[in-house]
Parts: sequence; C-alpha cells; structure tokens
Amino acid sequence: MHCVSNIRDDLYWLGASDRRLAKFESVYPIPRGVSYNAYLVLDEKTVLLDTVDRAVGERFLENLEFALAGRPLDYVVVDHMEPDHCATLGEVLRRWPDAQVVANAKTVPMIGQFFDCDISGRTVVVKEGDTLCTGRHTFTFVMAPMVHWPEVMVTYDSTYKVLFSADAFGTFGALNGNLFADQVDFARDWLDDARRYYTNIVGKYGAQVQSLLKRAAGLDIQMICPLHGPIWRENIAWFLDKYQHWSTYTPEDKAVAVFCGSIYGHTENAAEILASRLAGKGVRNIAFYDVSHTDVSYLISEAFRCSHLVLAAPTYNGEIYTPMEDFLRDLANHGLRGRTVALIENGTWAARSGMLMTKLLEGMKDMRVLEGTVTVKSAVKEAQRRSLESLADTIADEILH
Ligand code: FEO
Repeated sequence: MHCVSNIRDDLYWLGASDRRLAKFESVYPIPRGVSYNAYLVLDEKTVLLDTVDRAVGERFLENLEFALAGRPLDYVVVDHMEPDHCATLGEVLRRWPDAQVVANAKTVPMIGQFFDCDISGRTVVVKEGDTLCTGRHTFTFVMAPMVHWPEVMVTYDSTYKVLFSADAFGTFGALNGNLFADQVDFARDWLDDARRYYTNIVGKYGAQVQSLLKRAAGLDIQMICPLHGPIWRENIAWFLDKYQHWSTYTPEDKAVAVFCGSIYGHTENAAEILASRLAGKGVRNIAFYDVSHTDVSYLISEAFRCSHLVLAAPTYNGEIYTPMEDFLRDLANHGLRGRTVALIENGTWAARSGMLMTKLLEGMKDMRVLEGTVTVKSAVKEAQRRSLESLADTIADEILH
C-alpha cells in the first residue's frame, strides 16, 4: 500500500525509510535508520526529483505509480547519482520510457556507468542557472560540485520557493511519520545525527559547501527538501547557521571533548583526572569518549562541535595507539582545522605518542597544541597529577573566559 505525503498543493513526498540497514555506506552506524526522500510535482508536466535506494525501491515505485494516478511521468530531475538516490532510476526510466532525464553534463555519463539503458534522445542537459518551466512551476538548476559528489546539483522551485537540496541539509535518522523538522524536537533528537551525517560525509568539502551557501543566500528559500531526513519550512536560518559553522570548521560550542585510548586503564585514569579537574573549575558538559569503543563517526562529529580537544593515548609498537591514530588520520582527512588541543601520552619505556600526535596535528590547518603535554610512564604518579591539574587549569581558563 502506498505511503505518499502531500507537502503542499501539487508537491508530494514519495520516499521511504530504512530501519534495517546497520551501516550507511557500509561505514557509518545508523541505529536510528535513514530516510531516502524523493519528490514529485504534479504540474502541467509531471516532475520527479530523484529516486531512492534499492532497499526501499519497491515502496517508492508503488508510491510513484499511485501519485501519478495514470498520468505520464514527463521529467526526472537527477540531482545526485550516488546509488542511495539513483539505484531505482534505471527502473523508473524503463517503466516510463517517455520521461525526459534532466541532468547536468557530469551526470549524464554517470547514468551510463551505472545503468545499461540508453538515454540519448531523452535527456535535457542543464547547466548553472538554466531553468525548466513545467506550467505553474519554474525550476532553476544550481551546480553544487562535491556536495557530495562532483555531479551534484540542487534545484530551486521559484514558484513555491523550495530548494531541493540533494545531500545538503540531510541527516541520518528514519522519518517516524513526521515529515517536517518543525514537527519534531530537532535540536534535542536530530541535531547530533545531522552533525554526524554532515561532518562525516561532506565535512571535507567545506569550501564547496560555502560556495553553495553563498549562492543559496541569493535565493528566497521558504522550504528545504533534502534527500535524507526532515523537510525544513520553519527556522531555516537556525539550520543554515549550523551549516555555516560546520563548513567553516568553526566550533559550534566552546566546550571540551576528551578522546581517550587506554590499554589497561592508566591513560584513561589520567584523562579522568584532567576531566574531573575541569569540572571542578566549572567546565560543564564535558564530553568523554573511549576511542576504542566509540565508532569513529561519532568522534569526528564531536571534534567538529567542540572548541577544545584532549587527546590521551599510549604509545603502541613505537607509534600512536592504533584507534587514536586511526581517529586522527580520519580527522585530518575530513579537513578539521582551528581547534585547541591538549595531549596526554603514556609509555612504560619510551613515550612517543605525544610527539607523534603533534606531528599529525601539524599536518592539519590551524591546530594549536597547548604547552604542557602530560607524559605518563605506566601509571599516574604525583608529578603527573600536578601536570594534569595544571593542564586542566589552562583549558578551563580558556573555556570559562
Ligand atoms: Fe545521500 Fe551522496 O548520497
């Protein structure tokens, strides 16, 4: 049975959620599931904006058949060719052989790469600023390369002032009936997943997101329809401001996140002494993660959120303890910059992890390593306790003033 939602007048949501997938892209845990959104406009000409992942393809095709109610499908706009949105495109083009594909020049060859169907003679190739009038609606196409693939574009409907934003402004999380962000407590229940989605998937491409935001600022946007997660029609400026922070690598919160790797608990003990002293000085909402037991996507997200990072890791095979090294390399790959970092190292006979973590941080932009790296030799003794308190005092002064 179909599950089609009317967004307004002749604009419909045809997507579906997947609550069974354990890891998005086989990488990112999604305990709250994920939605794949597709949209249909029933204008004088009918327009489908993107399709969905194979996992929910059957439901989507049933929705599309129902919503069209026997009308032909005239246009399929392809904003993004990643298979979570295009996996069912081939089947749509097969079922509606007269539908024209609206896509840019980078997208067209990708359709040929993914599918065997021949779309020559049924393609409308668009470039930056081109428009498509379908009757009441006029769609303008805005190229958004690397948000999140090179072919990505977004589509602006100047009639309803809707931005179909592709991956931008999306989030992990299945839709639980409420289709709009103003129908849920987004800040409480969704923001962490929205940040984790953005930082891990698009975080590296801050400059390209900035370019899109600047061009979007010239549009009167009253609704954002992303390909994942709730639709925005209220409080859009609040979410845009989050994107402004994330895409410029500006911390969202003046806050401390402690990232700790520990083999037998001694390094963790050092990190806990520091965190406890921070709390004693009045620092609130300290985040504390064991890098061995927390999926790295959560660590990346928290590093984007917080202004001050504490990295505590033993030396391991003469290198940085592996889970911490993996995390730091992932952070560098995501382009994080401009954070203040405090280090705690441990090594029973040759502590090197502090020096090696510093080297990795030097390869990232504008990372400020605080003086006073604490060196633990096996276990925390009185000298290290004093050093940890001193380091905590430095961090607390910065956070609180
Ligand atoms: Fe949701 Fe880049 O795909």
